[in-house]
Amino acid sequence: MSPQRTAPKDFVSLADWPADALRRILDRAHELKRLYHRGDPPQTLRGRTLAMYFEKPSLRTHVTFEAGMTQLGGHAILLRPEQVGIGTRETAADVARNLSRWVHGIVARTYDHSLVEELAAAAAIPVINGLTDLLHPCQAMADLQTITERADLARSVVAYVGDGNNVASSLLNAISVLGGELRLATPRTHLPAPHVRKRAAELAARSGARIVWTDDPVEAVRGAHFVYTDVWTSMGQEEEAEQRKAVFEPFQVNARLLSHAPEAWILHCLPAHRGEEITSDALDGPRSIVFDQAENRLHAQKAILEALLGCARA
Ligand code: CP
Ligand code: NVA
Repeated sequence: MSPQRTAPKDFVSLADWPADALRRILDRAHELKRLYHRGDPPQTLRGRTLAMYFEKPSLRTHVTFEAGMTQLGGHAILLRPEQVGIGTRETAADVARNLSRWVHGIVARTYDHSLVEELAAAAAIPVINGLTDLLHPCQAMADLQTITERADLARSVVAYVGDGNNVASSLLNAISVLGGELRLATPRTHLPAPHVRKRAAELAARSGARIVWTDDPVEAVRGAHFVYTDVWTSMGQEEEAEQRKAVFEPFQVNARLLSHAPEAWILHCLPAHRGEEITSDALDGPRSIVFDQAENRLHAQKAILEALLGCARA
């Protein structure tokens, strides 16, 4: 029997988190959503400050972390790379050590995943991954909240169609830890990183999750309860955009593909490139729940913040 794992200090990869701790965060996310709509958000982060370091653009992650801190009685500070100068003014470790003396947590959105790991290793305070080239764990928590608003995860079939990118990799981690069925339809050339797949296989063997790999979108979506896609060109890959359009063209989520999954709910992390990975009729149609998913970034992250920055750790 494997020893009981405790919740880590940081929220960098869902693959590091025990299932029971993630379930507690999800339960709390549902509760925080109810409290928000009742106009009664708890003041669980009063006096706490979050530093938000963003190397890449963001609408959802930036606004939901900042609004989430405000709602829970805390405060957030946005830091731009040109202001901080990691690697030019000072080292990542020294930035982390300084912030640890002033604030209670750091959210970092970076290109290199190793930079978030470096910040986490040097910081005495929790570091939350706000998206890297490799992973997007906060997105996956909002995805799980959105799925579990409509279905029991353990009995759900989630089909992810498109690029095996950061969003796909964190969804893979999430379902591998918590259970359920994930079918990933990607070109063979654009799978998640080998070490992510290997770890997911180990986690799935433990949780009983079923992970299905295919390069056939129809096979992935047939009978699925949820169909999820993300952009073909992620932030930082803009120079490859034209080449990527050609590779991913058969992976578009459109009416033809969805005719094989007429009952499926449509997920997209947003921003969407309408007419590329998804057509507007699918994104705006009656089965789309993408704006519930966007709203849930707020509640899922408040639950993550409480777990990491609040008095009671998950
Ligand atoms: N889904 C998501 O992370 O959106 P932003 O890039 O706008 O933060
Ligand atoms: N895969 C996308 C997700 C954006 C939220 C990117 O990294 O740009």
